[in-house]
Amino acid sequence: MRKLDKWKFIGDNGEFKVENIDQSTYLYFPLANEAEMMSAITPRLHGDIKTGQNTFAMRPVSLEDLHNTKSARNFWLKINDQHVWSAAGNSAAQFSNQFSDEAEEDVELEAGLLWHKITRSNSKLNVQSEITNFVPTNSDTVELMRVKIKNTGAEELKIEPTAAVPIYGRSADNLRDHRHVTSLLHRTKTIESGVVVKPTLSFDERGHKQNEVSYAVLGGDENGKAPAGFFPVLEDYIGDGGNLEWPEAVVKSLDNYLAAGEEIDGYETVGALRFDEVTLKAGEEISYVLAVAIAEEDIDFDQLAAKYCSGDKFEKYLTENRDYWQQKLAVVDFDSADQEFDQWMKWVTLQPILRRIYGCSFLPSHDYGRGGRGWRDLWQDCLALLLMEPEPVSDLLYNNFSGVRIDGSNATIIGSEPGEFKADRNDIKRVWMDHGAWPLLTTKLYIDQSGDLEFLLKEQSYFEAGSELKDKNDEIYQGSVIEHFLVQHLTHFFDVGEHNNFLLKNGDWNDGLDMAENKGESVAFTALYGSNLLELAELLKALAAEKSIEKIDLAEELSILLDTIERDFNYQSVDYKREVLSDYRRTCKQGISGRKIEITLTDLISDLESKGQSIFDHLNKNEWIETEAGDKFYNGYYDDDGQRLEGDHPKGVRMTLTGQVFPVMAGAADEDQIQQVVDSADKYLKDLSVGGYRLNTDFKELKTNLGRLFGFAYGHKENGAMFSHMAVMYSNALYKQGFAEAGHKVIDYIYQHCRDFDTSRTYPGIPEYINQRGRGMYPYLTGSASWLLLTVVTQIFGVRGELGNLIIDPKLLKSHFDDQGEAAVKTIFADKLLNITYLNTNQLEAAEYQVQEVKINGQAVGFENKSRAAVIERSLIADSGEEELKIEVVLS
Ligand code: G1P
Repeated sequence: MRKLDKWKFIGDNGEFKVENIDQSTYLYFPLANEAEMMSAITPRLHGDIKTGQNTFAMRPVSLEDLHNTKSARNFWLKINDQHVWSAAGNSAAQFSNQFSDEAEEDVELEAGLLWHKITRSNSKLNVQSEITNFVPTNSDTVELMRVKIKNTGAEELKIEPTAAVPIYGRSADNLRDHRHVTSLLHRTKTIESGVVVKPTLSFDERGHKQNEVSYAVLGGDENGKAPAGFFPVLEDYIGDGGNLEWPEAVVKSLDNYLAAGEEIDGYETVGALRFDEVTLKAGEEISYVLAVAIAEEDIDFDQLAAKYCSGDKFEKYLTENRDYWQQKLAVVDFDSADQEFDQWMKWVTLQPILRRIYGCSFLPSHDYGRGGRGWRDLWQDCLALLLMEPEPVSDLLYNNFSGVRIDGSNATIIGSEPGEFKADRNDIKRVWMDHGAWPLLTTKLYIDQSGDLEFLLKEQSYFEAGSELKDKNDEIYQGSVIEHFLVQHLTHFFDVGEHNNFLLKNGDWNDGLDMAENKGESVAFTALYGSNLLELAELLKALAAEKSIEKIDLAEELSILLDTIERDFNYQSVDYKREVLSDYRRTCKQGISGRKIEITLTDLISDLESKGQSIFDHLNKNEWIETEAGDKFYNGYYDDDGQRLEGDHPKGVRMTLTGQVFPVMAGAADEDQIQQVVDSADKYLKDLSVGGYRLNTDFKELKTNLGRLFGFAYGHKENGAMFSHMAVMYSNALYKQGFAEAGHKVIDYIYQHCRDFDTSRTYPGIPEYINQRGRGMYPYLTGSASWLLLTVVTQIFGVRGELGNLIIDPKLLKSHFDDQGEAAVKTIFADKLLNITYLNTNQLEAAEYQVQEVKINGQAVGFENKSRAAVIERSLIADSGEEELKIEVVLS
């Protein structure tokens, strides 16, 4: 096998190039717009195109469908009446040549934000194709594809072009549910510019509906001239005995194509468009533009073709597309000594936006789910969006609180409209015990960036049975954001297992820990809740001080959980905690009264502090473990038999990364402990063949008393892969506690692994995980991107808010600075674009420097020194008349 070169960046906006791209099978690339057109495309132009679960223009694909041609865009040439050649590489002949030593074709990918270009050159036939695909950034749901054909030889080439895109035109559910029957619904028409299908019904045995959605494949040559005719019926196009890799209509140059204005009902459809035969002189080039469109209502598809299907129109929208994404991402930019890393980060920055568009369902690896994304994903993607587009995100955050239930759980599937929540995937009611913890993290970031403490006082409703919770008087009940936080945290605080950690329930962050519903405990997330309680107390102190607020109103029922106020409490006792919780549940079961009580902030703060501190004490006393070999780290879990998961075991020491991340991030671990965690993780979890720190050691056991993940082969996904999300959170936790070098290593291992394309086989960007063979899996749609962006901006470059003021606290290593000792970051803060340049002329390491001087637009400004960070008054930024500020920071 040929060794594949690394991808190479070729521009300033993430544009990259990969040679011999056809030597890799499982790659795909996203093409999308914010009107929810979602495509996936491979180097052979396979992949699907859809706007949602029920509207797939091309047949839905999972990873293993990526190498078949049923979902492939194709463009055929019959050359000189004898050779059949697919410009996309999808002919039987091209596949049969794939492993020969004498490659006839060179195939190269170039891609950027968000376009995909494949150049394929055939040295025997002297022909080259260059195919560019993208989705325009306006509100049209169409994917465009330009095919340029060039005669690279000395002789004339006569070509007969046929474009062919199979149209699936229905719901993903119909892949197995009545695949054939649903083709009988197809009403297929030929129009001037192409083939249109509008099924009569949207097929669903629970209740068929009249269908309104149409699908079309349209085309024109570079001057916009329409095709000569069409082969819209798939079985006619491939012919008896043929297939999509050797279609009769092309191979035999059939000329019985249909003209515009025909209608054929009840067959599988293909957008097969025959163009006029042309002769290309030596060096001459010709191009065609195709559009695959989905329309929710009746539209004039010929008009749509006129809008897009010609050379200059294509170019215009392509330029618009590049500008759009470039601008969208221009709000964050890095300039470090490693320019390649900076470019790689462009793709990471794009990823949270991609997950907002695709949810966790609509790219080939994510072949589960029916759209939308989960609760924790939603909140974590907001972390990145807060750095990129702060304005709409505050509304989004506010709306999201309406998904919280009064029992502390929440709706699990998020719809596409703000505040639209659905109860459960596949109608299975499950409670993930980590869900209550994420909103506070995100809201804290929002408040720190904006200073908007009043957000905490906003009133919001609660979720109940698909709508808003009502009180006993049948009125919609509302409580403040603070109250929502209390409900989320306190219900878990008292819901402990035998070992006094929060119950694991149906899982935590790790979806794979789903078989320990009774006795399982997540120590890891107990730590996160613990630090949240303390963070909330800090926010309330700031609220009290800055807004002169002494008391707030809370649901009467909550007084049961605020037990330190006026009652004796005993947090060492599991029985005590469970009793308090059953008291609360009993009360809520009868319906919420709607009555409020007044609580002083002082009492509330002290209650939260007692609770948070009791957790930290417990963790360090009971969950800090030592192995026989003398290695120390935290235990992260208990299984459903109430057995501790980590530490010595006859099958080898057991350790999880998750168990370490949260106590470190929380600040429960002291410096010594953090160093011991780092040493243990290096010893038991680090493996550079998979990009760094694995999620867990090999338990060599199918632990049916803990979760499905033990059924996965070791080294895959949640069973011990390098799982980017947890690894990046580990890095974040280390940076946060001042362990810059250790934190840097975690990210660097991932990055170095990914850029070794021959091993990682993943395009720029961070994949969800690296599998046992070192492959990057589940690219694009992963929460690790948000955390990585957050870590690079707020920890490594150290630019973040603190209750509205600007903190500058870089933890850049010496190696991050260029030869002049400079490193720069661009980010938004207080609605201004900050261009921050660090000057480290003495080339010092992170531990050796501190902010000495800060100049804003050339003027030195005063700042307060808080340990090593510089705190700059918000007004110095916000009140500046300019949109963009230049900030120079001298480090020494
Ligand atoms: C995915 C899921 C996330 C879950 C994680 C671990 O992570 O989206 O909800 O917590 O697996 O099971 P991601 O792809 O976001 O990194």
